[in-house]
Amino acid sequence: MALRKVRIQGDPVLEKTCKEVKEITPRIRELIEDMLDTMYEENGVGLAAPQVGVLKRIVVIDVGEGPYIMINPVIEETSGSQTGYEGCLSLPGKSGMVTRANHVRVRAFDENMDEYVLEGEELLARAICHECDHLNGIMYTSLVEGELYNNEELPAEEE
Ligand code: NI
Repeated sequence: MALRKVRIQGDPVLEKTCKEVKEITPRIRELIEDMLDTMYEENGVGLAAPQVGVLKRIVVIDVGEGPYIMINPVIEETSGSQTGYEGCLSLPGKSGMVTRANHVRVRAFDENMDEYVLEGEELLARAICHECDHLNGIMYTSLVEGELYNNEELPAEEE
C-alpha cells in the first residue's frame, strides 16, 4: 500500500486539463492502486489523478458499493438535478452547496482498458460529475451556491 500526497486547492496542478491515457503501463497500474489506497485512507468517495499531481484522465470512485476505476471517462448523458453539500479531499474540512445532475451515464475504460458504461444516481452521479470536473481543472468551489462552510458549522439541509 502506498499513499500519495493529496494536492490542496491553490496548487496549479488542480487547474490544468488532463491528458488521455493511451495504454496501461506498470506505472499507471501503480498509480491506480495508490489512488485507491489514498482515497480510502482519507475517507473520500472519489479521487482524480490531478489530485495526486498526475495530469492523466483517471478517476477512482467508491460510494460504498466497491470501487469504480474510470480511465478517459466521458459523461454521455445527464438528467434531473440534486442540490446538496459537496466536499473535496483537495479542500479538507470545507463543504458547499452544489447542484448536480441526479442521473449520469458515463463511458470509461477500466484498469485493463476494457470499455464500459455506468449509470449512476444521487451520490454516485454527484461523484462522477465532481471527479470528471477535476480532469478539466475545475474545482467544485467554482460551482458553490452561497458560502463555503467549515464542516463543523454546516447549516442543516432543507428538506
Ligand atoms: Ni474533489
